Amino acid sequence: MVSLKNWDNKTWLSSKDYIKSFSKFLIKNSNLNSKSEILDIGCGRGKISGNLYNELKLISKPTGIDIVDHKDKDKRIRFKKSNGLNFLDKNKKFFDLILIKQTIHLLKIREIKKLIKLCKKYLKPNGVIMVLTLDPYKNEIPTFKLMNSKLKKSLNRDKKIIALLEKNNKISKTKKFIYKVKILKSKYLQMINDRYISILLEFDLNQIENGVNEINSNFKKRIIFKDKLQCIIISRNV
Ligand SMILES: C[S@@+](CC[C@H](N)C(=O)[O-])C[C@H]1O[C@@H](n2cnc3c(N)ncnc32)[C@H](O)[C@@H]1O
Repeated sequence: MVSLKNWDNKTWLSSKDYIKSFSKFLIKNSNLNSKSEILDIGCGRGKISGNLYNELKLISKPTGIDIVDHKDKDKRIRFKKSNGLNFLDKNKKFFDLILIKQTIHLLKIREIKKLIKLCKKYLKPNGVIMVLTLDPYKNEIPTFKLMNSKLKKSLNRDKKIIALLEKNNKISKTKKFIYKVKILKSKYLQMINDRYISILLEFDLNQIENGVNEINSNFKKRIIFKDKLQCIIISRNV
């Protein structure tokens, strides 16, 4: 698979405001404090975990795992270039929070089952796994026609993943994280060109070019929408 390199590359997903409000959401829905140990699977540039390091005045740097090693990753995390499963197979540490944000859909179903099983094994007694996916029911991501049909398929798969997680685990809470995005159309078109989201990775240049033209004629100069995530909080006891 082609790797995802531009997700948090100077987009709203890496803006100070987004990181701050997402950190607030994480802190509100977990029992984190300065002694907490955090693992971020599919951390991207690690800005979220890096911000938690400051916000919580963490003693230990959060561990961030990703298959892509970005040059400009956050210095406040302990980064390991690895696949989540391989990392946990060799792991010996226990965590208060294992964050899997907008990453689980990139795994095969059998890998998801194995990953969550391993995550539970390495949770401290009051620790939680927080799995975030795009809200599969009320999504507002701006799309072009072809992108929209890919997104629908991906969201249907997310519904299956959520059902599987709910069936196999003790879910302590389900929460929504909603962030209001205001973005210049020119900037969003750049993100489409950069294939910021995984559903765009398989499109050829021509498909991207047509999509850019479509969005250009269908949206105003400033695009406003809500980026909605669903969060499933899994605790250790089954
Ligand atoms: C959509 S991005 C989300 C990044 C970050 N969690 C965030 O929300 O800003 C998904 C990330 O998962 C990484 N990834 C994909 N498969 C992975 C795997 N098996 N193990 C670890 N990371 C993976 C990708 O390289 C990418 O950085």
